[in-house]
Amino acid sequence: MKPNINNINDLMDYLDNKVEGVVWDEFYAERRFQAPFITQNTMPDENLVKFLNNEKSIKSTIELGCGEGRNAIYMAQQGISVTAYDISSVAIENAKKIVKDDNINVNFICQDVLKKIVTGEYDFVYDSGMLHHLPPHRRITYIELLQKILKPSGYFGLTCFAWGEDCADEVNDWEYYNHKFNAGVAFKKERLIELFSPYFEVVEIRKYCNGVPNTIQGLQFMWVCLFKDKRTK
Ligand SMILES: C[S@@+](CC[C@H](N)C(=O)[O-])C[C@H]1O[C@@H](n2cnc3c(N)ncnc32)[C@H](O)[C@@H]1O
Repeated sequence: MKPNINNINDLMDYLDNKVEGVVWDEFYAERRFQAPFITQNTMPDENLVKFLNNEKSIKSTIELGCGEGRNAIYMAQQGISVTAYDISSVAIENAKKIVKDDNINVNFICQDVLKKIVTGEYDFVYDSGMLHHLPPHRRITYIELLQKILKPSGYFGLTCFAWGEDCADEVNDWEYYNHKFNAGVAFKKERLIELFSPYFEVVEIRKYCNGVPNTIQGLQFMWVCLFKDKRTK
């Protein structure tokens, strides 16, 4: 880390070093935590399936924090051009192995999307479970990234931990920095609206539906959100 803070990037780097996060390569290599996206790593999100069934205009997509590619692969199977980023090389290598079997074309890229340049303009940005692992100051970078990579009037789909479900850390942004990091940040619905409504129309915010009996995939601890970019050109 640089010894002095001269600009916003230096400040962001300084704050990054003040907080702990999940070590994602370890998480995917060890597979100790039986998260739904590990145990059912080929099953797409129910909200994504419903959205793409209804919205046939989506031709290009970028997924942020794609993990082992379950949603990216599903989107490619629907004939959509897909670029999918993840910070974990273990997750990306696993995703490539899964995709090889299916002979599906996804452009998987191992990269921190907040620290290195992400290019392209897409009809749809999808994030299933990355935002809630970011520290609050990085949400600024995240929203700037969304604005850069989304076409005007494009869609942004998000799933994240819901406050009140006992699944994640229920802290406000100030408390976050004095708090022992645990599972990720839980969001209240009003907070999601506050964060995204300056840039997006809220199409939908609801809880994840239990579409898959006898699996943990459908537990109601996640918000599913759909936003539409307010810019028209
Ligand atoms: C909860 S997992 C969800 C994985 C995948 N979206 C799924 O649902 O199967 C969050 C993912 O975000 C990735 N991630 C976290 N921070 C990231 C960053 N700054 N850039 C790219 N990926 C990141 C992690 O490596 C991890 O795979």
